[in-house]
Amino acid sequence: MSEIGATPLQIDLRRHLREHDEDRDLTRLICEIADASKYIINAISTGDLGMAGTSNLYGEEQLALDVLSDRIITKRLAHSGVVANIASEERDDIVEVDPDCEGKFSVAFDPLDGSSLVDVNLAVGTIVSIYRGCSLMRPGREQVAAMYILYGPRTTLVYSTGNGVHEFGMNSLMEYTLNYENIRMDEGRARIYSPGGQRSQYSAGTEKFAQYLETNGAKLRYSGGFVPDINQVLIKRSGLFMYPHLKNAPEGKLRLLYELNPMAYLIEQAGGAASDGRRRILDIRPEKIDDRAPVFIGSSEAVAMAEQCIAEMD
Ligand code: F6P
Ligand code: MN
Repeated sequence: MSEIGATPLQIDLRRHLREHDEDRDLTRLICEIADASKYIINAISTGDLGMAGTSNLYGEEQLALDVLSDRIITKRLAHSGVVANIASEERDDIVEVDPDCEGKFSVAFDPLDGSSLVDVNLAVGTIVSIYRGCSLMRPGREQVAAMYILYGPRTTLVYSTGNGVHEFGMNSLMEYTLNYENIRMDEGRARIYSPGGQRSQYSAGTEKFAQYLETNGAKLRYSGGFVPDINQVLIKRSGLFMYPHLKNAPEGKLRLLYELNPMAYLIEQAGGAASDGRRRILDIRPEKIDDRAPVFIGSSEAVAMAEQCIAEMD
């Protein structure tokens, strides 16, 4: 990413990573993904909205955009020279890039989360989880970095390597420049809430928790896209997103490797919390690449209250 044209106030992503003494190869990896996102923006804005004619591991029909976004990122990662293994929400198997994992990273990602919202022109995103070495089947706590890119009216990128959470915005030169450094969630009650899943399918504990949020003045703010919904909680510094265990879907909907672990890492880095209702998301040891889990994520007070309601009622 070029620094030409950057004013002293505009710290770009690569410079930010360098100034924070990040590992050179990790810097390279994060910047490769940031570069890949420029092609995804173009695909979203102008590309084919139709079906790809294939389905993913979850039985969901893939859009042409899902497949294209996956190819854009996979290709970048495979040629980066710093990646060992790749897992994508849109692929059935792990892609082995380099069997020699020494000094390399393994990456799990959701190339275009919320892609079914593109036809109604709502925001979507890319979510990325990064581990050192070969294995992706590890608790989220072992991630060395996580990031997401939000394609909304503006494009923003949020990353953490364990040294705070930082947000960048794309400028007119298609460079990511720093908006907020070290984002911290406020203490206290959640001011907004984003409840996924059908309410008639909520357990008694989740229903009690939803009523707690409502009676304590939390306002409903739900877009149906995980990335914009989480981003709202993070950037507003308060709120709660949930996609709980449902009577007809005990594991909820969202995917541990591709969606929950990276978001839990980012929200915890900002002083929030993430739980499946009984244990921290980052402590869950995955058994399969397509594991799902329920999630309650955002302001710590609200997540603790969700756990309390579930312990009492479920
Ligand atoms: O990939 C998952 C996703 O599209 C998320 O972006 C969103 O939070 C959730 O699914 C919405 O689920 P549902 O389709 O059940 O409303
Ligand atoms: Mn997704």
